Amino acid sequence: MQVKKLEKIEKQADKELEKVKDIKSLKEIKIKFLGRKGVLTNILRSIKDVAKEKRAEIGSEANNIKKQIEEKIKEAKNRIDAQKVIDEDSHLDVTAPGIKQKIGHINPDTLMMWEIENVFQKMGFDVYEPYIVDNDYNNFQALNIPEDHPARDIWDTFWTENDLIPITHTSSMQNRILRNNKPPIRAIVIGKTFRNERTDARHEHSLYQCEGIYVDKGISLSDMIGTLKEFFSRIFEKKVNVQITPDYFPFVEPGNAMNLSCVLCDQKGCRVCKYTGWLEIMGCGMIHPNVLKEGGIDPDTYSGFAWGFGVDRLAMLKYKINDVRLFHSGDLRFIQQF
Ligand code: DAH
Repeated sequence: MQVKKLEKIEKQADKELEKVKDIKSLKEIKIKFLGRKGVLTNILRSIKDVAKEKRAEIGSEANNIKKQIEEKIKEAKNRIDAQKVIDEDSHLDVTAPGIKQKIGHINPDTLMMWEIENVFQKMGFDVYEPYIVDNDYNNFQALNIPEDHPARDIWDTFWTENDLIPITHTSSMQNRILRNNKPPIRAIVIGKTFRNERTDARHEHSLYQCEGIYVDKGISLSDMIGTLKEFFSRIFEKKVNVQITPDYFPFVEPGNAMNLSCVLCDQKGCRVCKYTGWLEIMGCGMIHPNVLKEGGIDPDTYSGFAWGFGVDRLAMLKYKINDVRLFHSGDLRFIQQF
């Protein structure tokens, strides 16, 4: 009779422990079976009333069951604890504020190129990328710079072993664009160029350039000045001024340097513009007739202007960066600002 009762208690405890899901209920089960007034404790206490010959058997059975229930309570506790960790981990609170994900930064060179492309596209220009490595013809000859011409000294050129050139300027695309389009031609070329230069705060061996050409009937220097003044005003989001001075580039005649009114001090005078109020920003001019001819365009019918500027230099002015070497330094403190 007592043994049957013990078996029943064990089954009952098993059933409740299997279902238990939280520590509070587990404690209640523990008290119910093993507590001072618990079911099993009662039986153990009443053993003295059992007939002598059965006492030992029932006693050891009751102790056995007590141990098993204790064991199962421990297991249940582990199970509940583990479940708690899982629940907390996968808990999704849709009302919690978002966490900003940092997935990298855009290099200011890239930002600048996107802006340049954007502005020129809105002004009706097509955008080209240069060949990174090109031949002598495109980088020099087609631009009115024959072999052994002293003007080659303007560019400190790298050469590959098979006489190709990591392009020294994005002007290298002029001939292809002229050949492959009919006027009016409005195009910019934007990409990486290479110079055999010693690096300092204003010079890098790799730099980005933006070349532009505009060819049509009756194009003059005033179109060039107007177009580029508009471009810089849009880039710096304020009215700027430009002026041109004479300069020499073999592919333009006349050749010019273009100065931009200092965007840092608004011509009040500062260290960057050396208190002149002007910044020399690029080379430009009217496309040389030889270059038009080489590109299959009749210089007696058409004329055009061209320019080339450094993207890095423009980015330095726009984002107020004082050392060009920072762009590719890999310094996180720098890049994280963009
Ligand atoms: N290609 C020249 C350079 O890298 C820049 C340049 C000057 C481009 C005058 C032009 C130009 O198209 O007309 O120094």
